[in-house]
Amino acid sequence: MEIEQDGQVRAPILLKQGAEARVFESTFVGRRSVVKERFSKKYRHPSLDSKLTLKRLNAEARCMTKARRLGVCTPVLYAVDPVLHSLTFEYVVGPAVKDVLLEFGLHGINEEQMGNIARQIGEAIAKIHDGGLIHGDLTTSNMLLRSSNDQLVLIDFGLSFTSTLPEDKAVDLYVLERALLSMHSSCGNVMDRILAAYRKSSKQWSATLNKLAQVRQRGRKRTMVG
Ligand SMILES: Nc1ncnc2c1ncn2[C@@H]1O[C@H](COP(=O)(O)OP(=O)(O)OP(=O)(O)O)[C@@H](O)[C@H]1O
Ligand SMILES: [Mg+2]
Repeated sequence: MEIEQDGQVRAPILLKQGAEARVFESTFVGRRSVVKERFSKKYRHPSLDSKLTLKRLNAEARCMTKARRLGVCTPVLYAVDPVLHSLTFEYVVGPAVKDVLLEFGLHGINEEQMGNIARQIGEAIAKIHDGGLIHGDLTTSNMLLRSSNDQLVLIDFGLSFTSTLPEDKAVDLYVLERALLSMHSSCGNVMDRILAAYRKSSKQWSATLNKLAQVRQRGRKRTMVG
């Protein structure tokens, strides 16, 4: 519970209850913020669970900070609480890319906005991939569009990890491709536009896109070797 500057007490608002985390809207020293709290898995041993949760919490904070260093817009990280297992971020005002694309599906595509979104997605992924960071959960819910300037903001680094392997980058892109096909098929081929921007932006586009062609053939699972 936070006490506001005007003396009022406001309860945090639940934004999302997931399988491993709860996300609240709250305030942090007077600023609108988002708190992501990882909770324990009851079936795991308590001290092991706490260690694992803490490890993932730190990994998420580190990966998000790394993405930011690589020039991708992410929410500002305000605080890490190792006791409550929570991260506090800047609240980004604006819709998720998911909602913008669903809206295009219902009421027609705004070509200029669509081009701008696809370009920003391709460039952002190229930047993190060239820096050796894999997002791990590239869906249109994990991308926000800041209302003030239409800037793409990447969120949810809960499954992110570092890797320079073309295979890992290709799977990252493949997850997004599947998400776009299943959710936003009425928006035309957004993935082609994203990949065109990726290709322009990433120095290692060739190895990654070759791998992507292979991953498409077999699905996201790795082929067993040996
Ligand atoms: N900084 C932010 N500003 C505004 N809204 C946010 C922000 N962070 C998260 N949200 C909202 O909360 C939702 C859930 O957050 P997030 O994606 O980080 O959690 P999650 O999907 O439950 O995480 P995980 O996949 O790690 O279990 C987002 O889809 C978005 O709508
Ligand atoms: Mg998410």
